[in-house]
Amino acid sequence: MVVSLAGQVALVTGGGRGIGQAVALDLARHGARVLVNDTGGDLAGRGTDAAVAEAVAATIREAGGEAAANAGSVADYEDAYTMVKQAVDAWGRLDIVVSNAGFLRDQALHNMKPEDWQAIVDTHLTGAYNVLHHAWPVFRQQRYGRVVLTSSNSGFIGNFGQANYGAAKGGLIGLMNVAKLEGQKYEVMVNCLGPGAATRMTEGLMPAERAAVMSPNLVAPAVTYLCSPECHDSGFIVEAGGGRFGRAAIVRNQGINLERPDADAVAARWKEITSLEGAETWWSMRQTLAEREAERAGQAAG
Ligand SMILES: NC(=O)c1ccc[n+]([C@@H]2O[C@H](COP(=O)([O-])OP(=O)(O)OC[C@H]3O[C@@H](n4cnc5c(N)ncnc54)[C@H](O)[C@@H]3O)[C@@H](O)[C@H]2O)c1
Repeated sequence: MVVSLAGQVALVTGGGRGIGQAVALDLARHGARVLVNDTGGDLAGRGTDAAVAEAVAATIREAGGEAAANAGSVADYEDAYTMVKQAVDAWGRLDIVVSNAGFLRDQALHNMKPEDWQAIVDTHLTGAYNVLHHAWPVFRQQRYGRVVLTSSNSGFIGNFGQANYGAAKGGLIGLMNVAKLEGQKYEVMVNCLGPGAATRMTEGLMPAERAAVMSPNLVAPAVTYLCSPECHDSGFIVEAGGGRFGRAAIVRNQGINLERPDADAVAARWKEITSLEGAETWWSMRQTLAEREAERAGQAAG
Protein backbone atom coordinates (compact mmCIF):
# COMPACT_ATOMS: atom_id res chain seq x y z
CA MET A 1 0.00 0.00 0.00
CA VAL A 2 1.58 3.29 -1.13
CA VAL A 3 -0.74 5.46 0.92
CA SER A 4 0.05 4.78 4.56
CA LEU A 5 -1.08 6.67 7.62
CA ALA A 6 0.84 4.48 10.06
CA GLY A 7 1.55 6.35 13.29
CA GLN A 8 -0.72 9.22 12.39
CA VAL A 9 -3.65 10.62 14.32
CA ALA A 10 -6.87 11.81 12.71
CA LEU A 11 -9.92 13.70 13.91
CA VAL A 12 -13.04 13.17 11.80
CA THR A 13 -15.95 15.42 12.69
CA GLY A 14 -19.38 14.04 11.93
CA GLY A 15 -17.61 10.68 11.74
CA GLY A 16 -20.53 8.71 13.14
CA ARG A 17 -22.58 8.38 9.96
CA GLY A 18 -22.51 8.64 6.18
CA ILE A 19 -19.42 10.05 4.53
CA GLY A 20 -17.65 10.77 7.83
CA GLN A 21 -18.09 7.18 8.96
CA ALA A 22 -16.70 5.84 5.66
CA VAL A 23 -13.75 8.23 5.97
CA ALA A 24 -13.03 7.30 9.59
CA LEU A 25 -13.00 3.60 8.70
CA ASP A 26 -10.80 4.13 5.64
CA LEU A 27 -8.29 6.29 7.54
CA ALA A 28 -8.10 3.56 10.19
CA ARG A 29 -7.65 0.89 7.49
CA HIS A 30 -4.64 2.88 6.32
CA GLY A 31 -3.13 2.86 9.80
CA ALA A 32 -4.36 6.07 11.41
CA ARG A 33 -5.56 6.27 14.99
CA VAL A 34 -8.93 7.98 14.78
CA LEU A 35 -10.95 10.20 17.07
CA VAL A 36 -14.50 9.88 15.81
CA ASN A 37 -16.51 12.98 16.67
CA ASP A 38 -20.28 13.11 16.27
CA THR A 39 -23.11 14.66 18.26
CA GLY A 40 -25.42 11.93 16.98
CA GLY A 41 -28.13 14.53 16.31
CA ASP A 42 -30.98 14.31 13.83
CA LEU A 43 -30.92 15.51 10.23
CA ALA A 44 -31.83 19.04 11.33
CA GLY A 45 -29.02 19.08 13.91
CA ARG A 46 -31.27 18.59 16.92
CA GLY A 47 -30.70 16.19 19.81
CA THR A 48 -27.66 14.12 20.72
CA ASP A 49 -26.71 10.46 20.87
CA ALA A 50 -23.21 9.61 22.06
CA ALA A 51 -23.63 6.00 20.87
CA VAL A 52 -23.34 7.11 17.21
CA ALA A 53 -19.65 8.11 17.43
CA GLU A 54 -18.91 5.30 19.87
CA ALA A 55 -20.24 2.65 17.44
CA VAL A 56 -17.78 3.72 14.71
CA ALA A 57 -14.87 3.87 17.16
CA ALA A 58 -15.82 0.36 18.37
CA THR A 59 -15.90 -0.95 14.78
CA ILE A 60 -12.36 0.35 14.23
CA ARG A 61 -11.14 -1.23 17.47
CA GLU A 62 -12.81 -4.55 16.62
CA ALA A 63 -10.92 -4.56 13.33
CA GLY A 64 -7.65 -4.19 15.27
CA GLY A 65 -7.26 -0.41 14.96
CA GLU A 66 -7.11 2.35 17.55
CA ALA A 67 -10.01 4.74 17.97
CA ALA A 68 -11.90 6.80 20.50
CA ALA A 69 -15.18 8.69 20.41
CA ASN A 70 -16.19 12.27 21.13
CA ALA A 71 -19.78 13.53 21.20
CA GLY A 72 -19.10 17.29 21.28
CA SER A 73 -20.44 19.80 18.79
CA VAL A 74 -18.10 21.46 16.32
CA ALA A 75 -20.32 24.54 16.56
CA ASP A 76 -19.16 24.99 20.15
CA TYR A 77 -15.72 26.61 20.49
CA GLU A 78 -14.95 24.83 23.78
CA ASP A 79 -16.13 21.45 22.48
CA ALA A 80 -13.83 21.88 19.47
CA TYR A 81 -10.92 22.58 21.84
CA THR A 82 -11.81 19.48 23.86
CA MET A 83 -11.83 17.20 20.80
CA VAL A 84 -8.40 18.38 19.65
CA LYS A 85 -7.09 17.99 23.21
CA GLN A 86 -8.62 14.50 23.50
CA ALA A 87 -6.75 13.34 20.40
CA VAL A 88 -3.45 14.88 21.50
CA ASP A 89 -3.79 13.60 25.08
CA ALA A 90 -4.54 10.08 23.83
CA TRP A 91 -1.92 9.76 21.12
CA GLY A 92 0.53 12.65 21.51
CA ARG A 93 -0.13 14.31 18.15
CA LEU A 94 -2.74 15.29 15.57
CA ASP A 95 -1.91 14.98 11.88
CA ILE A 96 -5.27 15.00 10.15
CA VAL A 97 -8.49 16.97 10.48
CA VAL A 98 -11.45 16.01 8.34
CA SER A 99 -14.08 18.68 8.91
CA ASN A 100 -17.24 16.93 7.81
CA ALA A 101 -19.94 17.44 10.47
CA GLY A 102 -23.15 18.91 9.22
CA PHE A 103 -26.90 18.90 8.80
CA LEU A 104 -29.54 20.68 6.75
CA ARG A 105 -32.25 23.27 7.41
CA ASP A 106 -33.43 23.95 3.86
CA GLN A 107 -35.89 26.78 3.18
CA ALA A 108 -36.36 29.20 0.30
CA LEU A 109 -34.62 32.48 1.15
CA HIS A 110 -37.82 34.38 1.93
CA ASN A 111 -38.89 31.69 4.41
CA MET A 112 -35.50 31.12 6.03
CA LYS A 113 -35.57 32.06 9.69
CA PRO A 114 -32.52 33.69 11.28
CA GLU A 115 -32.04 30.70 13.60
CA ASP A 116 -31.92 28.30 10.63
CA TRP A 117 -29.39 30.51 8.85
CA GLN A 118 -27.28 30.75 12.00
CA ALA A 119 -27.38 27.06 12.95
CA ILE A 120 -26.08 26.03 9.53
CA VAL A 121 -23.35 28.66 9.40
CA ASP A 122 -22.36 27.84 13.00
CA THR A 123 -21.86 24.17 12.20
CA HIS A 124 -20.54 24.02 8.64
CA LEU A 125 -18.41 27.18 8.57
CA THR A 126 -17.72 28.31 12.14
CA GLY A 127 -17.41 24.64 13.13
CA ALA A 128 -14.55 24.23 10.65
CA TYR A 129 -12.90 27.38 12.03
CA ASN A 130 -13.35 26.17 15.62
CA VAL A 131 -11.61 22.86 15.00
CA LEU A 132 -8.87 24.28 12.75
CA HIS A 133 -8.16 27.14 15.15
CA HIS A 134 -7.42 24.65 17.92
CA ALA A 135 -5.58 22.16 15.70
CA TRP A 136 -3.38 24.80 14.08
CA PRO A 137 -0.89 25.27 16.97
CA VAL A 138 -0.39 21.48 17.00
CA PHE A 139 0.26 21.45 13.24
CA ARG A 140 2.71 24.36 13.53
CA GLN A 141 4.59 22.72 16.35
CA GLN A 142 4.76 19.39 14.46
CA ARG A 143 5.46 21.19 11.18
CA TYR A 144 2.92 18.85 9.60
CA GLY A 145 -0.81 18.67 9.03
CA ARG A 146 -3.46 17.62 6.53
CA VAL A 147 -6.93 19.14 6.41
CA VAL A 148 -9.99 18.30 4.35
CA LEU A 149 -12.92 20.68 4.54
CA THR A 150 -16.14 19.09 3.31
CA SER A 151 -17.79 21.60 1.03
CA SER A 152 -20.57 21.07 -1.52
CA ASN A 153 -21.85 21.81 -4.99
CA SER A 154 -24.40 23.95 -3.21
CA GLY A 155 -21.54 26.34 -2.41
CA PHE A 156 -19.75 25.98 -5.78
CA ILE A 157 -22.76 26.51 -8.04
CA GLY A 158 -25.88 26.74 -5.87
CA ASN A 159 -28.86 24.60 -4.99
CA PHE A 160 -32.39 25.95 -4.59
CA GLY A 161 -33.52 26.30 -0.98
CA GLN A 162 -30.03 26.16 0.52
CA ALA A 163 -28.99 29.79 1.01
CA ASN A 164 -27.68 29.03 4.51
CA TYR A 165 -25.93 25.81 3.50
CA GLY A 166 -24.57 27.13 0.17
CA ALA A 167 -23.19 30.24 1.88
CA ALA A 168 -21.51 28.18 4.60
CA LYS A 169 -20.11 25.66 2.11
CA GLY A 170 -18.88 28.46 -0.17
CA GLY A 171 -17.29 30.10 2.87
CA LEU A 172 -15.18 26.98 3.35
CA ILE A 173 -13.49 27.72 0.02
CA GLY A 174 -12.40 31.09 1.41
CA LEU A 175 -11.22 29.46 4.63
CA MET A 176 -9.23 26.92 2.61
CA ASN A 177 -7.65 29.61 0.45
CA VAL A 178 -6.30 31.49 3.44
CA ALA A 179 -5.39 28.43 5.51
CA LYS A 180 -3.41 26.97 2.58
CA LEU A 181 -1.20 30.08 2.66
CA GLU A 182 -0.83 30.17 6.43
CA GLY A 183 -0.01 26.46 6.48
CA GLN A 184 2.46 26.52 3.61
CA LYS A 185 5.64 26.89 5.61
CA TYR A 186 4.53 24.28 8.15
CA GLU A 187 3.78 21.51 5.59
CA VAL A 188 0.06 21.86 6.28
CA MET A 189 -2.04 21.06 3.19
CA VAL A 190 -5.63 22.26 3.18
CA ASN A 191 -8.09 21.09 0.56
CA CYS A 192 -11.84 21.07 0.04
CA LEU A 193 -14.00 18.10 -0.81
CA GLY A 194 -17.10 18.19 -2.99
CA PRO A 195 -18.67 14.81 -2.22
CA GLY A 196 -21.69 13.00 -3.57
CA ALA A 197 -23.05 10.01 -1.67
CA ALA A 198 -26.23 8.28 -0.69
CA THR A 199 -26.63 9.09 3.01
CA ARG A 200 -29.55 10.12 5.19
CA MET A 201 -28.81 13.69 4.02
CA THR A 202 -29.53 12.83 0.39
CA GLU A 203 -32.29 10.28 1.04
CA GLY A 204 -35.13 10.85 -1.40
CA LEU A 205 -33.05 13.26 -3.50
CA MET A 206 -31.55 10.58 -5.74
CA PRO A 207 -33.43 7.93 -7.73
CA ALA A 208 -32.98 4.50 -6.12
CA GLU A 209 -30.79 3.18 -8.93
CA ARG A 210 -28.43 6.17 -8.58
CA ALA A 211 -28.35 5.88 -4.78
CA ALA A 212 -27.35 2.23 -5.15
CA VAL A 213 -24.05 3.22 -6.78
CA MET A 214 -23.32 6.21 -4.54
CA SER A 215 -21.85 4.55 -1.48
CA PRO A 216 -19.93 6.88 0.87
CA ASN A 217 -17.15 4.29 0.56
CA LEU A 218 -16.56 5.70 -2.93
CA VAL A 219 -15.84 9.15 -1.47
CA ALA A 220 -13.42 8.01 1.22
CA PRO A 221 -10.42 7.18 -1.06
CA ALA A 222 -10.11 10.82 -2.14
CA VAL A 223 -10.14 11.97 1.47
CA THR A 224 -7.61 9.36 2.57
CA TYR A 225 -5.25 10.43 -0.22
CA LEU A 226 -5.67 14.14 0.60
CA CYS A 227 -4.92 13.32 4.25
CA SER A 228 -1.75 11.40 3.47
CA PRO A 229 1.90 12.42 3.32
CA GLU A 230 1.69 11.53 -0.41
CA CYS A 231 -0.43 14.61 -1.06
CA HIS A 232 1.52 17.83 -1.51
CA ASP A 233 -1.25 19.83 -3.12
CA SER A 234 -3.07 22.50 -1.20
CA GLY A 235 -5.99 24.74 -2.12
CA PHE A 236 -7.67 22.19 -4.39
CA ILE A 237 -11.39 21.49 -4.59
CA VAL A 238 -11.61 17.75 -5.14
CA GLU A 239 -14.85 16.10 -6.18
CA ALA A 240 -15.65 12.47 -5.39
CA GLY A 241 -18.83 10.48 -5.80
CA GLY A 242 -20.03 7.23 -7.33
CA GLY A 243 -16.53 6.35 -8.53
CA ARG A 244 -15.91 9.67 -10.31
CA PHE A 245 -12.99 11.71 -9.03
CA GLY A 246 -12.21 15.18 -10.36
CA ARG A 247 -11.33 18.76 -9.58
CA ALA A 248 -13.31 22.00 -9.60
CA ALA A 249 -11.66 25.41 -9.47
CA ILE A 250 -12.18 29.13 -9.40
CA VAL A 251 -10.51 30.48 -12.50
CA ARG A 252 -9.70 33.94 -13.74
CA ASN A 253 -9.34 35.25 -17.25
CA GLN A 254 -6.76 37.76 -18.46
CA GLY A 255 -9.30 40.60 -18.52
CA ILE A 256 -8.95 43.60 -20.78
CA ASN A 257 -7.91 47.19 -20.23
CA LEU A 258 -10.46 49.82 -21.18
CA GLU A 259 -9.04 53.15 -22.26
CA ARG A 260 -12.10 55.15 -21.25
CA PRO A 261 -13.82 52.98 -18.65
CA ASP A 262 -17.51 53.79 -18.41
CA ALA A 263 -20.63 51.63 -18.37
CA ASP A 264 -21.03 51.91 -22.17
CA ALA A 265 -17.48 50.64 -22.72
CA VAL A 266 -18.13 47.74 -20.33
CA ALA A 267 -21.36 46.94 -22.19
CA ALA A 268 -19.64 47.07 -25.56
CA ARG A 269 -16.92 44.64 -24.56
CA TRP A 270 -18.88 42.48 -22.10
CA LYS A 271 -18.25 39.28 -24.08
CA GLU A 272 -14.47 39.76 -23.95
CA ILE A 273 -14.57 40.84 -20.30
CA THR A 274 -16.42 37.69 -19.29
CA SER A 275 -14.94 35.15 -21.71
CA LEU A 276 -13.22 32.29 -19.90
CA GLU A 277 -11.03 31.45 -22.87
CA GLY A 278 -7.49 31.00 -21.56
CA ALA A 279 -8.69 31.38 -17.96
CA GLU A 280 -6.39 30.00 -15.28
CA THR A 281 -6.42 29.22 -11.60
CA TRP A 282 -4.36 31.49 -9.41
CA TRP A 283 -2.62 30.99 -6.11
CA SER A 284 -2.87 34.04 -3.88
CA MET A 285 -3.54 37.76 -3.73
CA ARG A 286 0.10 38.47 -3.01
CA GLN A 287 1.30 36.49 -6.02
CA THR A 288 -1.35 38.05 -8.27
CA LEU A 289 -0.41 41.57 -7.18
CA ALA A 290 3.29 40.79 -7.73
CA GLU A 291 2.51 39.51 -11.24
CA ARG A 292 0.46 42.64 -12.00
CA GLU A 293 3.30 44.83 -10.73
CA ALA A 294 5.83 42.99 -12.92
CA GLU A 295 3.46 43.32 -15.90
CA ARG A 296 3.09 47.07 -15.34
CA ALA A 297 6.86 47.48 -14.92
CA GLY A 298 7.36 45.54 -18.18
CA GLN A 299 4.85 47.76 -20.00
CA ALA A 300 6.49 50.94 -18.65
CA ALA A 301 9.95 49.71 -19.70
CA GLY A 302 8.68 48.63 -23.14
N1 LIG B 1 -24.16 13.24 0.98
C1 LIG B 1 -23.85 14.05 0.00
O1 LIG B 1 -24.06 13.78 -1.20
C2 LIG B 1 -23.18 15.35 0.32
C3 LIG B 1 -22.99 16.27 -0.73
C4 LIG B 1 -22.31 17.45 -0.48
C5 LIG B 1 -21.83 17.70 0.80
N2 LIG B 1 -22.05 16.82 1.82
C6 LIG B 1 -21.49 17.13 3.14
O2 LIG B 1 -20.81 15.99 3.61
C7 LIG B 1 -20.82 15.98 5.04
C8 LIG B 1 -21.33 14.64 5.53
O3 LIG B 1 -22.69 14.51 5.14
P1 LIG B 1 -23.46 13.10 5.06
O4 LIG B 1 -24.17 13.09 3.77
O5 LIG B 1 -22.53 12.00 5.42
O6 LIG B 1 -24.56 13.33 6.21
P2 LIG B 1 -24.90 12.50 7.53
O7 LIG B 1 -26.09 13.16 8.14
O8 LIG B 1 -24.99 11.05 7.22
O9 LIG B 1 -23.61 12.72 8.46
C9 LIG B 1 -23.32 13.94 9.07
C10 LIG B 1 -22.95 13.68 10.52
O10 LIG B 1 -22.57 14.93 11.13
C11 LIG B 1 -23.04 14.89 12.48
N3 LIG B 1 -23.14 16.26 13.00
C12 LIG B 1 -24.06 17.20 12.67
N4 LIG B 1 -23.84 18.34 13.34
C13 LIG B 1 -22.74 18.12 14.12
C14 LIG B 1 -21.99 18.93 15.02
N5 LIG B 1 -22.36 20.19 15.27
N6 LIG B 1 -20.90 18.41 15.60
C15 LIG B 1 -20.52 17.13 15.37
N7 LIG B 1 -21.20 16.30 14.53
C16 LIG B 1 -22.30 16.80 13.92
C17 LIG B 1 -24.39 14.20 12.38
O11 LIG B 1 -24.81 13.69 13.64
C18 LIG B 1 -24.13 13.13 11.34
O12 LIG B 1 -23.78 11.88 11.94
C19 LIG B 1 -21.68 17.17 5.45
O13 LIG B 1 -20.86 18.27 5.74
C20 LIG B 1 -22.50 17.44 4.21
O14 LIG B 1 -22.94 18.77 4.17
C21 LIG B 1 -22.71 15.65 1.60
